Amino acid sequence: MNPEGIIGKSDAIRKVVDLARRVAKSASTVSITGESGTGKEVFAKAIHNWSPRAKKPFVAINCSAIPENLLESELFGHAKGSFTGAVEKKVGLFEEADGGTLFLDEIGDLNLSLQAKLLRVLQEREIKRVGENQSRPVDVRVIVATHKDLRQEVAEKRFREDLYFRLNVIPVKLPPLRDRREDILPLAEHFLKKYNAINGTQVQGFKKSAKEFLLTQSWRGNVRELENAIERAVVLSSGTEIDVAAFTLFDEPALQDAFLGGEDKKNAFVFHFGDEVEPLHELEKKYVQFVYERKNRAKELTAKALGIDRKTLYRKLQEIDPQTSI
Ligand SMILES: Nc1ncnc2c1ncn2[C@@H]1O[C@H](COP(=O)(O)OP(=O)(O)OP(=O)(O)O)[C@@H](O)[C@H]1O
Ligand SMILES: [Mg+2]
Repeated sequence: MNPEGIIGKSDAIRKVVDLARRVAKSASTVSITGESGTGKEVFAKAIHNWSPRAKKPFVAINCSAIPENLLESELFGHAKGSFTGAVEKKVGLFEEADGGTLFLDEIGDLNLSLQAKLLRVLQEREIKRVGENQSRPVDVRVIVATHKDLRQEVAEKRFREDLYFRLNVIPVKLPPLRDRREDILPLAEHFLKKYNAINGTQVQGFKKSAKEFLLTQSWRGNVRELENAIERAVVLSSGTEIDVAAFTLFDEPALQDAFLGGEDKKNAFVFHFGDEVEPLHELEKKYVQFVYERKNRAKELTAKALGIDRKTLYRKLQEIDPQTSI
């Protein structure tokens, strides 16, 4: 691990860390792209912390989370009485970040009028508060991020081409987790420690079956999805090692949270009907595993509950985890 807590040993992530360290030294605008959950914000912070601006503020704003009519004054500030509701004067985020870094997340959602204003700020290095004529100099390093394809946005006239080029001075591209599978287990171990600490648990590690599961998922939600899966597994884990059942029990967290509370969660066997349908024998394995865990690993009771004989159960359990004791 490096000082910024960026985990990963794949060539792909090492290259990004390397690039980020080098660009940190400059004052150039950095544009971070990557699918949701790939670590864009983590890298934006790291670039700030590795930069000569580290002791000055790092200010972040998500452009898609603020209503359009408020975003301008949020970014640039406003004079007292400049619009209804502007009871007091307000210092904008550009001024707050003076000497430091301003992280504009989801820049692809900025409307065209604000794009023009941002371009002007980047070129002139000064801002105007809403309702003021006076320009104020600002010394801010801008980092932007988006999960959108900005070139496509430019092609479709939703994003200004001149701003695109101005922002794209140094592009940093974060690869999806499925393209850097070597990072999965180190990240899983890292999150295991994190959630052990938060929950006061002492889960030691992952069983082979659990590791295999983690390595073969597609992780469409990338590192964030992996982190959520580990958090859940730590909470649900009854043993000292995480078993594959801890992951397969809840394939659809949002659904679980909506429909099940506390005790019920533990007793629910749910499968996620996504784009890939589980083959029956896979589902059977999960179900056997599930019942086995619910019966506190009592083989006799599990076999009885499943309506199969002990020998059949042994065979199935061994298929799931060859280390199961007979
Ligand atoms: N390389 C990494 N090492 C450790 N933790 C990471 C790494 N990458 C991402 N994370 C963690 O994964 C989660 C998601 O990361 P982050 O918020 O930076 O993603 P994002 O790309 O900004 O996502 P979104 O597009 O949804 O905003 C965070 O909790 C973050 O701490
Ligand atoms: Mg983000």
